[in-house]
Amino acid sequence: MEIYIDTADLNEIKKAMSLSILDGVTTNPTILSKQGVPYKERLGEINEIVDGKIWYQVVSSNSEAMVREALEVVSLLEQPVIKLPIGQESLKASKILSNQGIETNMTLVFSVAQAILSAKAGASYISPYVGRINDIGWSGLQLIKDITQIFSIQGIQTKVIGASLRSSQDIVSVAELGAKAATMPFKVLTQMLNNPMTDSGLVQFNDDWKAYQRQLATTQ
Ligand code: E4P
Repeated sequence: MEIYIDTADLNEIKKAMSLSILDGVTTNPTILSKQGVPYKERLGEINEIVDGKIWYQVVSSNSEAMVREALEVVSLLEQPVIKLPIGQESLKASKILSNQGIETNMTLVFSVAQAILSAKAGASYISPYVGRINDIGWSGLQLIKDITQIFSIQGIQTKVIGASLRSSQDIVSVAELGAKAATMPFKVLTQMLNNPMTDSGLVQFNDDWKAYQRQLATTQ
C-alpha cells in the first residue's frame, strides 16, 4: 500500500521521510496556503527532501489553464502527481496530461459515478474524502468499498487513495476495502506507529535484560 503524508510542513516531511516508509507527499491549496511562503518555493523545498511522489492541486478553472499550470509545476518536481478537482474541465485536463505520461489524481470525489468518469479520463488515482463524507452523515468507507468493488469488476487500473483520513483505524479500514494508497496528516502517521502496549512491553524487556545482566555480573 502506498503511504503519503498530507502536509507542506518541512519539519513534518523530514521526520516522516526519515522513517523510510513514505511514498511521497500530498498537498492541496489549503495546506500550501498555511505555509506563508510562495507555493513554488515550498514545492522546490519539498522536492529536495522527498524521494517519492509530490502531489500538487491545480487552482485554474478551465482545462487549458489547468494544463498550463500543471506543466509549470511538473517542471519543478522529480515525481509529480497533478491533482484535479473533479469536474468537466478537470476531465479534459486529465486526459491531456495522462496522454503526455503525467500522473493525475482526481480529487474531491464523493460518488462512484465521479470515480468512473475519473478513470475514463485517465486518472492514475482518485481521492474519495472519507472524513468529509462521514462529517455529513454518510459513510466514507461505504464509498471506498463501492468504488474498489466496481473498479475490480470492471478491471479499472485507476488506484483509489483514501483521503481525509483522521485516525490510524481509517487507514486499516481503507486498506481492507482495497484502497491502494492512503494520505494522512503527520499525527495520524505517528498514531499508526505508536501503541502503549509496545511501549510497556519494551520497558519490561529492557528491565528484564538489565536484571539478567546484573545477575550474570554477580555470579561471575
Ligand atoms: C486529500 O487529497 C486532501 O488533501 C485531504 O486528505 C483532505 O483532508 P481533510 O478533509 O482532513 O482536509
